[in-house]
Amino acid sequence: MKKKTVTLAAGATALAAAAGAVWWFTDTAPYPYDKRRLLDLPLPFLRAADIDRALDPADGERMLEIGPGTGLQSLHVAPQLGCQGRLDIVDIQQKMLDHVQKRAADAEISTIHGTRADATCMPFDAGTFDAVYLVTTLGEIGAPRESLTEFHRVLRPGGRLVVGEFFDRHWIPFGRLRSYADDCGFQLQERHGPTVAYLATFVRS
Ligand SMILES: C[S@@+](CC[C@H](N)C(=O)[O-])C[C@H]1O[C@@H](n2cnc3c(N)ncnc32)[C@H](O)[C@@H]1O
Repeated sequence: MKKKTVTLAAGATALAAAAGAVWWFTDTAPYPYDKRRLLDLPLPFLRAADIDRALDPADGERMLEIGPGTGLQSLHVAPQLGCQGRLDIVDIQQKMLDHVQKRAADAEISTIHGTRADATCMPFDAGTFDAVYLVTTLGEIGAPRESLTEFHRVLRPGGRLVVGEFFDRHWIPFGRLRSYADDCGFQLQERHGPTVAYLATFVRS
């Protein structure tokens, strides 16, 4: 009986390890549009209320979201910027941008503007935005340090940068983000959540 239990436990562990390995190695970047439904599930420590606390959106602000996916955060943040505000969204995949624009139109939100670009090189003037944010996206960008330099360029002095990360193959641990941010001219303001699921707010120097 004892031997059978040990064998079953070993089998379950091996299965879990195999499933974990499959998940890890099939987790590709950029995030496939075909798997988009999973993006609509809120993640612990990265829920709408957590985003609001970290980002603190205000009426009339112009914000930039990098890698909106299906728009889980965009559709929540844009209305908080009011009709004088504006949310630009940048994604490397046109299908993601089209998806968000369709959802925005259905929700009668007209202040979201999509641009297809790589986050490391964006067609915006220096100092354009009050805030830049990205959720479970930084680790997917091939050159995260270069993208932080680009976020610094497009933010106005004193503008906010909010980064959310969640454990997966492309996850950036908080310590590494902090080091990149220091190098690129951002001061940490606050961080919520453990290193495997956090939201961090920085201020641009
Ligand atoms: C995992 S999804 C996150 C979606 C959304 N932020 C969320 O939390 O549900 C990552 C998104 O980043 C985009 N992305 C990946 N690399 C990018 C890059 N270099 N520049 C711009 N967007 C990129 C992907 O196309 C995808 O829409």
